[in-house]
Order: sequence, then C-alpha cells, then structure tokens
Amino acid sequence: MPFDTPSDRLTDPFGRRITYLRLSVTDRCDLRCTYCMSERMRFVPKAELLSLEELALLSEDFIRRGVTKLRLTGGEPLVRRDVIQLFSALSRHLDTGALEELTLTTNGTLLSRFARDLAACGVRRVNVSLDTLDPARYRAVTRRGDISKVLAGLDAAQAAGLRVKLNAVASRGAFEAEIDDLIRFAHGRGMDLSLIEEMPLGETGTDRPDRFLRLDRLVDDLGKRWTLSPDRKSTGGPARYLHITETGGLLGLISPLSCNFCASCNRLRVSATGKLYPCMGDDGAVDLRAALRDAPERIGGLIRTALAAKPRHHFFDTRAGSTPAVMRHMSVLGG
Ligand code: 5AD
Ligand code: SF4
Repeated sequence: MPFDTPSDRLTDPFGRRITYLRLSVTDRCDLRCTYCMSERMRFVPKAELLSLEELALLSEDFIRRGVTKLRLTGGEPLVRRDVIQLFSALSRHLDTGALEELTLTTNGTLLSRFARDLAACGVRRVNVSLDTLDPARYRAVTRRGDISKVLAGLDAAQAAGLRVKLNAVASRGAFEAEIDDLIRFAHGRGMDLSLIEEMPLGETGTDRPDRFLRLDRLVDDLGKRWTLSPDRKSTGGPARYLHITETGGLLGLISPLSCNFCASCNRLRVSATGKLYPCMGDDGAVDLRAALRDAPERIGGLIRTALAAKPRHHFFDTRAGSTPAVMRHMSVLGG
C-alpha cells in the first residue's frame, strides 16, 4: 500500500503536524469516578470493539503516517483482556525506531499485576490517575475504588523502572485542603504531578459547576506556600509546567477551560470502536472500523476527512452550567 509518501503525513488545515495518537482500547473501567462516569453506565457491546489485531493494525497505519507517540487509554486500558499482547505487538515499532514512545494512562488498580510486563514491552512512563491520598475520599470519588491497590501499583511501576506521572482532577473543598500533601507525596517519590481542570464531558449525575475549581486560582493560592517558577518543558500538549523549588519537582497544569492550548495541538484520538475524533471538545468523528475490516485502502481518505475537520480550537462553554458541552463520556476517549 502506498503509505510512505510525504502526502500521507498528517498535517491539518492549520499546519499542525499530528505525531501523537491516543487510542482507547476499551470504554470499560473498574471504577466510576464522579467526574467521568455516571453510577450506572451502559458500555459498548464487546462485538463493537476493535479486536486487539485491529487495534494493532490501525496503530501501525498511523505510525506509517508519522505518529511517533502512542498512548493507550480507556476507560481503563488494563481491564481489556490480553491487552499486553497489544503492547507486545506495538513494541516492535519501538525497536525499529518508528515509534518513539509507547505509553498508557491508567487508574493504577491493576498496575501491580502488569507493571513488569509493560516495562518488558518497552513502556518507559505511565500516567496514573490519583486525586487523593485519603482512602475514604478515594472510595467516594471513584465510587468503589480501594486506594491500597493503586499505591501497590505505584510501587510496582517504580520497581519495574517505569517513570510515573500522577494526574489529579482538581475540585473545590477537600482537594484544595489536600493539595500540599499530594505535591509532597508525588515529588517525594520522584513522580511528576499534573492537575487537570474538570471538563464537562457526558452526564455524570453530579453537580459540576459546584465543584469546578479554576487552576489559575489554585496556583495563586499555592504561590503563598510554595516557590513556583515556570518551567520550559513542553509536550506540544495542553500542560504547562511549574517548577517547585522546595520539592525540586514539576507541577503540570492542564486547563482546558481557562487557557487555550489548541494552537499547538499535535494529537488525534481513536475510540475503542474505531471512531477517529479530531478534537476532544467536539462530538465530530469519522468511523474507521468498517474500512479497517473491509476496505483498508479507504483508511487514508477517512483520516484526511477527519483532519480536514479538526477545529482550530475547542468550544467548551464555561458558562454552560451543568449541561455537558459534549455528550460523550470521558471513558470513550480517556482524556
Ligand atoms: N475532566 C477532566 N479530567 C477527567 N478525567 C476523567 N474525566 C474527566 C473530566 N470530566 C481524567 C481522569 C484521568 C484521565 C484519563 O482523565 O482522572 O486522569
Ligand atoms: Fe475509570 Fe479513569 Fe473514568 Fe475514573 S476517570 S472512571 S478511572 S476511566
């Protein structure tokens, strides 16, 4: 197939080169975080999911088109049966150098089981979602989780040589009271910490405006207790980084609502059913599954259609009260 010509490289109408693919391998999760899911979720029937082979083929297609960084997401990627086979298949492209980074975002509950296998597949870093260190609050936020499993997962990841970044969704109240502890915990263990502003994705049966915390306000407050200085590290993504003198660690800030990061966006997202989403702040998507199954030669055209529709920036509306801007749940694309 005619893949390697420059015209197959992925560049959108605003000149943004796409080098980063976030691929969801399942919409399921063993947790039900209040900002992500509703209590009772309807998940996609298994037959609609791309098979592990299809996920590998699709990833390889994107790698041939210039994607150098691949992140597997969910839901929770580690609840997908035999997902390590997919990591293993993809690790080949790390060996050839076509892929520079293979990574995942996980809630950490299954990391103690999988950390060594992931490291053996060439994974060097993991992002672990953890919003609190308090077992009761962890259970409340996740509606069912046991924090000791995540803490064991962090130990296993570090023992396997994986670099760990913690992601915490910021909220008013208890989170603000605990943020200093979270910083000390993460940086004390050599882990970066990123704070994420809650995005209005999908109905969750909870009151979002009530708990929404602007990160610029939080940073003003942190500045009273910590010495913060801007750090130049950039991932071409939504995070900006502050260096904390007292800990020597980095604090990432992901503020999709109060700060516009779209100009440097280098990413595309694919759901576990094979829908390609050019922008996470938008419901627009192109279905790749049928082409993947029956007419692989059409994939290139479909990807170009999606790229042509990649908006200059997202349209989350901060004034929209509790109505989600996008009806899809976070678990469809995993952030
Ligand atoms: N807004 C912001 N972050 C979210 N996450 C899940 N739902 C939301 C939301 N509505 C985060 C999780 C995890 C990552 C996959 O996305 O905590 O870190
Ligand atoms: Fe699961 Fe992550 Fe969603 Fe929590 S935020 S329910 S861990 S997918």
